[in-house]
Amino acid sequence: MIAPSILSADFARLADELAAIVGADWVHVDVMDAHFVPNLTLGLPVVEALLKVTDIPMDCHLMIDDPDRWAIGYAEAGAHNVTVHAEAAGDPVKLAKDLRAAGAKAGLSIKPGTPLEPWVDVLKHYDTLLVMSVEPGFGGQSFIPEVLDKVRQARRLVDTGHLNVLVEIDGGINSDTIDLAAEAGVDCFVAGSAVYNADDPGKAISALRDRAARIRGGA
Ligand code: DX5
Ligand code: ZN
Repeated sequence: MIAPSILSADFARLADELAAIVGADWVHVDVMDAHFVPNLTLGLPVVEALLKVTDIPMDCHLMIDDPDRWAIGYAEAGAHNVTVHAEAAGDPVKLAKDLRAAGAKAGLSIKPGTPLEPWVDVLKHYDTLLVMSVEPGFGGQSFIPEVLDKVRQARRLVDTGHLNVLVEIDGGINSDTIDLAAEAGVDCFVAGSAVYNADDPGKAISALRDRAARIRGGA
């Protein structure tokens, strides 16, 4: 699966930019609050407006403090998947239950320096694990290959039936780095600059998917 991130889109033309990502499996929307991360992007009113103009399932990545309070609104608005940060969540198990009860898939994200093991039990309540492969906050950063150990760990846990999550990666994914991520066992690849800086975003999406599928054996 390929999930283009609109962080690299033209914010003055977001509806057109959604229409441009032909073939996207999810559209990844980065919500930043200038507290959990240094950057500030958009919030629920913009997400609600975007949901009205697209049928692409929306993947909301909340890089915010106090997701226990704010995440539910994105699920109630109709986001397909709502991901919160493990480092910011107060009661992540309750949060996952609330997100699912509101009709969304629940995602848990870990920053590059956050280990996976302490979160494995919590992840039994989640649908998606988002492994950050850059420090959250900005698009266009370089991929951090060290996080692939966590991807491999997660892949093993899923393949052996200990976890039932979609493994997603976010940050620095392009036609070079996607091979490494696919080899490690990623299911869903977020790509911001690699899609939106391309002349033809739709072509960039299918090129990324082809590369990943070649390695994951058509997965
Ligand atoms: C970074 C965001 C990413 C970002 C990825 O904090 O979470 O989703 O848009 O952008 P690229 O693909 O350019 O690294
Ligand atoms: Zn993101």
